[in-house]
Amino acid sequence: MTHSVVVYTLTLTFCVLLLGLEYVAALENGLARTPPMGWMPFERFRCLTDCAQFPRDCISERLFKRTADLLVSEGYAALGYKYLIIDDCWTEERRDNQTGKLLAHRERFPSGLHALASYIHARGLKFGLYHDIGTETCMFHGPGAQGHFQLDADTFADWQVDYVKLDGCYADELNLDKAYPYFGQALNSTGRSMVYSCSWPFYQEKPNYSLIAKHCNLWRFSQDVRDSYHSITYIMDHYRHRQHILQKHAGPGHWNDPDMLVLGNFRLSYDASRLQIAIWAVLAAPLIMTNDLETVRPEIKALLQNRDIIAVNQDELGIAGGCVATPENMEVWLRPIAPINNAGKHSYAIAIVNRGGLHECPLCPQIFEFTLSQLNLSNTMGYSVTNLFNRNDDLGLFMPSDKFSTRINPEGVTFYKFKSMDWY
Ligand SMILES: *[C@@H]1O[C@H](CO)[C@@H](O)[C@H](O)[C@H]1NC(C)=O
Ligand SMILES: *[C@@H]1O[C@H](CO)[C@@H](O)[C@H](O)[C@H]1NC(C)=O
Ligand SMILES: *[C@@H]1O[C@H](CO)[C@@H](O)[C@H](O)[C@H]1NC(C)=O
Ligand SMILES: *[C@@H]1O[C@H](CO)[C@@H](O)[C@H](O)[C@H]1NC(C)=O
Repeated sequence: MTHSVVVYTLTLTFCVLLLGLEYVAALENGLARTPPMGWMPFERFRCLTDCAQFPRDCISERLFKRTADLLVSEGYAALGYKYLIIDDCWTEERRDNQTGKLLAHRERFPSGLHALASYIHARGLKFGLYHDIGTETCMFHGPGAQGHFQLDADTFADWQVDYVKLDGCYADELNLDKAYPYFGQALNSTGRSMVYSCSWPFYQEKPNYSLIAKHCNLWRFSQDVRDSYHSITYIMDHYRHRQHILQKHAGPGHWNDPDMLVLGNFRLSYDASRLQIAIWAVLAAPLIMTNDLETVRPEIKALLQNRDIIAVNQDELGIAGGCVATPENMEVWLRPIAPINNAGKHSYAIAIVNRGGLHECPLCPQIFEFTLSQLNLSNTMGYSVTNLFNRNDDLGLFMPSDKFSTRINPEGVTFYKFKSMDWY
């Protein structure tokens, strides 16, 4: 039997150590100063339109009213989960014959979207709506925006929409680098403030993120998330391989969107649930849940409602983190956060991921050790360290030369805040 510890040494792979704090020209509509938080049905409820057989779960005003009530009564709204966003499958198959306007499905949204928006706003929430920039929507094949940008933007403003998710299916004839900015200008010209969520880079081989950040508040850069550990690590890998580009384009008003939080569904273990919320906090990702809020288990609800992790996600500096080291099958993810001490040293949120341990025992808990200075934590006043998953677990003061040791479950994560100290 061997006792093995992954000791992080500088000879191991070092991913780029961030802080590419270059100035990025960005969309300035005053919105999404921190990553948006909320709820969207898509991964959980898909395009279920059969309300006769599945009245509780079909895409209908009933589902959104039920969820609006739960966001408030279950305490999510008070923590920041404010955007209730309708995804695909809300329209009639065709536009209105006379006016050309989009129509909400008459049977599933009998009160109309204006009334639904009022219901949502009356609960202190914000109303989001899906659309597609091409000729058809992705799942339902409802009418797309092509040829109707201004009309649709005006309709959304009339309906009191606060957030637009604009997908990119069936847009073969469009130059996305022109079309997404045009739709953004159409939104802007309504005079109503609407968060603009773009799927633009997902549909391109070589996205120009400078251009995208100039026109969108957030943008999808990877595959649709699914309810599995594999999907979460796939998106993490996708981000890691592009983080030298993605990180510098994130900031207040403009964010990389790795897709929704799947916590609270069927397939994620407790450890994988911790992994998704921790990494999404490091990435400064939007926290948009997709689940049935009535059936989220208490321990998963506690993760979704962990104030300390939400505070990392919503950190005022708005610097996106990334993966800084990949020793063996471990990964170190790090995000600079507030407070910055008097000498200009940042605090950090650090997540250590066990991607399957060592060959000797791939699915065992794994110990990982590093010296703070190896991760560029060089504040000579030290760091006060707390466990972000358990605020009662205060680990004390660590100096740059001190070793930090953590034990991580297989396919799991530990997550700490290293608060930069000053002399008092
Ligand atoms: C460590 O951080 C400083 C700024 O705090 C930065 O200038 C330096 O490049 C970083 N070192 C590494 C190895 O990334
Ligand atoms: C539009 O007109 C067609 C035929 O004229 C009709 O079949 C269809 O139901 C109408 N659609 C709507 C949304 O009114
Ligand atoms: C429209 O764009 C201008 C210029 O970027 C910005 O100042 C303004 O806040 C925007 N208005 C809305 C409603 O988004
Ligand atoms: C990307 O967009 C920026 C901002 O609009 C522009 O200055 C730059 O030339 C573009 N880069 C490429 C490779 O097209």
